[in-house]
Amino acid sequence: MSKNYKIAVVGATGMVGRKFLQVLSERKLPAEYTLFASSRSAGTEIDFMGKTYVVEELTHTCFDGRGFDIALFSAGGGTSLTFAPSAAKAGAVVIDNSSAWRMDKDVPLIVPEVNAHAVSGYKAKGIIANPNCSTIQAVVALKPLHDAYKIKRVVYSTYQAVSGAGMGGYGDLERGIKGEAPLKFPYPIFGNCLPQIDVFLDTGYTKEEQKMIDETHKIMEDDAIRVTATTVRVPVFHGHSESINLEFDRPFELEELREKLESAPGIIVVDDPANQKYPMPIDAEDRDEVFVGRIRRDFSVDSGVNLWVVADNIRKGAATNAVQIAQELIKLWKTEGK
Ligand code: A2P
Repeated sequence: MSKNYKIAVVGATGMVGRKFLQVLSERKLPAEYTLFASSRSAGTEIDFMGKTYVVEELTHTCFDGRGFDIALFSAGGGTSLTFAPSAAKAGAVVIDNSSAWRMDKDVPLIVPEVNAHAVSGYKAKGIIANPNCSTIQAVVALKPLHDAYKIKRVVYSTYQAVSGAGMGGYGDLERGIKGEAPLKFPYPIFGNCLPQIDVFLDTGYTKEEQKMIDETHKIMEDDAIRVTATTVRVPVFHGHSESINLEFDRPFELEELREKLESAPGIIVVDDPANQKYPMPIDAEDRDEVFVGRIRRDFSVDSGVNLWVVADNIRKGAATNAVQIAQELIKLWKTEGK
């Protein structure tokens, strides 16, 4: 009989945490689960996979002696910084959705379609990081094109949904629709666009923009790619959209480039201008794939292309990617007999 792995879900009551549970119930991992959140919701009952679970309080000792193999964390950066080492010390591999550990050189940063091989790097610290939502969907599209034509430069411009800012962001759009003032964002998001996601850095970039730059280098394992980004919050509930401009080292044929995207894992090409078919956030909602369209040559450079890339930021951009990492880990352990 195959082993049943023990998985802790930390932050199970949150927006991403609940999506973790949905994706886990769809993918049916060989696992049993324990749910954690803060003392505020300890004791809350959550129905999941035909059972009622009682949420437990996250503490430094809550993992001890319980044989957890994996701890899926989505409870904010501060909580991850404080508690992930406790989970790892107790023997669990932490898959962390926050930005707390992403740039640690001893922590792999993984998008399975791009660098699944890096999963064995968990052995250094017992932690694997799940990338930023905007970066995940971008690199899924970049990878097959970098392999084929070697990307020299990337210009990202994002149109990001309010759900990326958690319950608070979602609430601000709902409040705005009702004519009420925002609580989470510094300005109204309804009928508006905010060219600020996360805090500003000394460079004039926002932290979200810097994350896209740094994480692209780390996941693609190529610091030579020149990357710049402008990230914008738009009044959309679900699904991030991105305009991505790429410049290549090598020449390409547009039809072949399209075929490379069509045959790449995790991508659905929706690109039929004659029939006004292109990816939109409303079509990506609750889907695991990354949708790519508006594929057209950039005539302003020798070898360049423009893409429009859309994905569900809470699924592929967070929960699905983390669960895929857990599946890669289990695959690795099976080859090692664990
Ligand atoms: P809780 O419901 O007890 O506050 P969101 O990003 O949607 O707000 O979700 C955040 C998630 O992280 C929630 O499940 C929340 O639990 C959890 N969380 C926040 N702070 C802590 C903490 N200090 N310890 C454990 N869980 C936390």
